[in-house]
Amino acid sequence: MRVEVTLSVNGAERSATIEPRRTLADFLREDLGLTGTHLGCEHGVCGSCTVLVDGASARSCLMLAVQARGAEVTTIEGLADHGAMGPLQAAFRDSHSFQCGYCTPGFLMTAVELLRENPHPTEAEVRAGISGNLCRCTGYESIVRGVLLAAERGA
Ligand code: FES
Ligand code: FES
Repeated sequence: MRVEVTLSVNGAERSATIEPRRTLADFLREDLGLTGTHLGCEHGVCGSCTVLVDGASARSCLMLAVQARGAEVTTIEGLADHGAMGPLQAAFRDSHSFQCGYCTPGFLMTAVELLRENPHPTEAEVRAGISGNLCRCTGYESIVRGVLLAAERGA
């Protein structure tokens, strides 16, 4: 059985006919070609697959695409500013907030929610806010700096 799923992704209506068991992550990556959303653990632990669904962060490996029907989904591709880095991405670049970069899309999407809810977080609040995302490379210090820089810049 296949079903049609239509939702809004980064402001544009997108649809595809898929198996009902398709995860949102696979739908974004394989049906829509939005490969900026990364898959790490595929069972809700690492946060690499984080996207925003109706403004709230969600692990797209744990959500079925059919559950997002009619929702507004924002992915890492949606943070770009007319093809250039958006301000949050620029703050991460300027703070060297990544090494391999595999975890970065998930951290950025988590940071979007964090800074929307708390535009001027303390370092402790940033650490708590990103605590659900795993990074194997950086030791987190530069990621925390990146979020704080973005906050300082009003990103
Ligand atoms: S891939 Fe979804 S939480 Fe790790
Ligand atoms: S930069 Fe490599 S996993 Fe975070």
